[in-house]
Amino acid sequence: MLDYEEEATRYDASRGGEDRAGAAAQALLGLIPDTPGHLLDVACGTGIVTRRLAAARPGLRVTGADLASAMVRMAAARLPGAVVRADSHRLPFRTGSVDAVTTVWLLHLLRDPEDVRAVVAECARVLRPGGVYVTTVDKAAAHDVGSDIDAVLASRPHRPAADAAGTVTAHAARHGLRPVGHASFTGAGQGRSPRATIADLRRGWFTLLPPGEPRTEEFAARLARLPDQDRRRADPRFSLRAFRKP
Ligand SMILES: C[S@@+](CC[C@H](N)C(=O)[O-])C[C@H]1O[C@@H](n2cnc3c(N)ncnc32)[C@H](O)[C@@H]1O
Repeated sequence: MLDYEEEATRYDASRGGEDRAGAAAQALLGLIPDTPGHLLDVACGTGIVTRRLAAARPGLRVTGADLASAMVRMAAARLPGAVVRADSHRLPFRTGSVDAVTTVWLLHLLRDPEDVRAVVAECARVLRPGGVYVTTVDKAAAHDVGSDIDAVLASRPHRPAADAAGTVTAHAARHGLRPVGHASFTGAGQGRSPRATIADLRRGWFTLLPPGEPRTEEFAARLARLPDQDRRRADPRFSLRAFRKP
């Protein structure tokens, strides 16, 4: 996993900024009932999406939670008094107390399948009966837009996706959550260019290609031979799944 303490200051600009946040928030809100209550955005990062959820639904009390202190500080500046430092495995909220829980771009980071199950279980635990859990799924697959960059990266070592929709749905079912909807949003500004992908490779974005290893540099060299080094290829489209606690 990237070091999100270090990522915090450059996070927004490198993840599509307000355009991506706006698209994500709109898609999330389409899956969350428009009723007053408490929404918990787990792994809220800098709060760039969380803030939009709060602004769009004044009747909703929105809380952000994140493990990285640097992220919590940035989110707290956007949502004063509404952000806590917490691990998604042990959320500091009572069982059955929250109306909606969101995890945007969290589950794909959890390498151990048991971790994904545990986090889905924890989100299910804090939800009240009738509450809704919305999460991104299939994050890595969304980045494959069929470009020449993806053709180069196709032969890289892969782990099975921790956040595969089928896996997440199975975990959700095991913890009493039923599928109720899906949506998608465009990762504006998230399209890869060869040069940016080489930079990502060298800072450990691709977990099985550690920075500095010969294999990683082989991929960097192949990417460096592609045309239009600074032209971003198509933006990805990210998937959301919604589940309800009966
Ligand atoms: C890719 S960012 C997503 C941030 C935000 N949801 C967004 O869409 O902008 C992933 C976030 O997950 C947080 N994170 C990673 N592991 C976590 C855990 N176990 N509990 C809570 N947050 C975690 C990181 O600190 C980081 O802020």
